[in-house]
Amino acid sequence: MQRPSTTSLYGSRVLLIDDDEDTRDLGAMGLAKHGYQTQTCSSVEEALELLERSNGELGAVVTDLQLGSRSGLEVCEWVTQNRPDTPVILVTGHGSLDAAIGAIRVGVWDFINKPIDLSRLAHSLERALSHSRLKQEVTRLRESVARPAVAAPIVGESRAIRAVLDLVERLHESDVSVLITGESGTGKELVARALHNTSNHAEGPFVAVNCAAMPAALLESELFGHKRGAFTDAREDREGLFVRASGGTIFLDEIGEMPMEMQAKLLRTLQDSRVRPVGSDDEVAFEARVLSATNRDLEDAVEQGTFREDLYYRLNVVHVPVPPLRARDNDVLLLAQHFIEAVVARTGKQVVGLSSQAAQKLIDYHWPGNVRELQNCIERAVALTRFEELTVDDLPPKIRRYQATRLVLDADDVEQMLTLEAVERRYIARVLEATGGNKTHAARVLGLDRRTLYRKLDRLEIGDKD
Ligand SMILES: Nc1ncnc2c1ncn2[C@@H]1O[C@H](COP(=O)(O)OP(=O)(O)OP(=O)(O)O)[C@@H](O)[C@H]1O
Ligand SMILES: [Mg+2]
Repeated sequence: MQRPSTTSLYGSRVLLIDDDEDTRDLGAMGLAKHGYQTQTCSSVEEALELLERSNGELGAVVTDLQLGSRSGLEVCEWVTQNRPDTPVILVTGHGSLDAAIGAIRVGVWDFINKPIDLSRLAHSLERALSHSRLKQEVTRLRESVARPAVAAPIVGESRAIRAVLDLVERLHESDVSVLITGESGTGKELVARALHNTSNHAEGPFVAVNCAAMPAALLESELFGHKRGAFTDAREDREGLFVRASGGTIFLDEIGEMPMEMQAKLLRTLQDSRVRPVGSDDEVAFEARVLSATNRDLEDAVEQGTFREDLYYRLNVVHVPVPPLRARDNDVLLLAQHFIEAVVARTGKQVVGLSSQAAQKLIDYHWPGNVRELQNCIERAVALTRFEELTVDDLPPKIRRYQATRLVLDADDVEQMLTLEAVERRYIARVLEATGGNKTHAARVLGLDRRTLYRKLDRLEIGDKD
């Protein structure tokens, strides 16, 4: 996974400026131990000449404050003006308040006292470099969203989302039934629309039905239509949604919630390509492509006997699993930028993007509500912000305060070590989180059969809330 905060900084080039030869040599040697290549020079003139010739290949600059008759602040100033992405660390022998104020004014990243504590310097460099990489990443994403070439409605470039786009592409001009699965808010409906828009009957209607929203009897009349007098409120004949979708696509959303008795009727309908309106003796033919979606684990439902196996296979000719947002690497930033621009276009508010600290928070958070949650978060932040870049303060508290939980497997302190059961419990909960609660998938990852997983969930009292 490529995340800017954890990208290896190993091998970055650092320019070290000091008029004392010993300091230069010791510094270069010490930084080499931390994996940095160092280039050294001894004066402001030399440094500026070198910097002018460099073309962004220098990762960071470390400069002494007093360089003969001139000041390291001149170097700082030049860098912040001409290479704003390159962080500068100022080394001072005097730790004076004036120097500190001057340093902050010209935008240095950090300043440290002499004699140089090399591990402190290496640590500061690491933070500076990962910060500047994140900043560059944000700029890159901002530009790539701004380019109209990304006209595709499904935003993302992670491997996980590319697998989805690839499937959509391969289904171009196809009519097969597709089952779209994924956690709530991952973009299942968006995928359904993309499949429709690239099908042979993109010109035809796209009719979406939420199968969870109504009781069986009502759903039946919605889907299949009814005859006048079929029930009390049926004052006239009504065409069903299957017929209305003819020449296009019918999208059965939340299919996992469909009551058993409706499942049987739906199966027959799909087999015959005909519907029988409620209260009618005659059947009506229709011709519509069937897409369905669910956030439930249908294989599990089949096993539990709450979803018909034959219907499952009928709907699931091709399966498109939509990954949770937390599995999409930096797409979270790309999507955030996409939503910022959408709000800006709508409201005209002057917001250009995210601050790098806010970007880091978005990367760290685990997004249980997926893309929809991100969209809400960005719309809220744009409404609240007083700045051109969204800041951490503009994010909701739970995202601001989120701390990624890690398994404490590398603890050295015996007191902090966990029981085997606690590790098992946390790990299973973590795998379930990563698979979006899909137990079949989780069992596969854990190398267990599903029954064993269920027993463990019971014993370890891991509920859905975990
Ligand atoms: N990859 C994406 N690029 C751009 N917008 C997206 C993307 N994924 C989702 N969205 C947007 O996020 C919102 C939620 O997506 P959608 O309604 O398709 O999710 P869903 O999986 O159907 O959710 P639910 O399970 O709650 O019905 C929509 O506004 C959608 O346009
Ligand atoms: Mg939906």
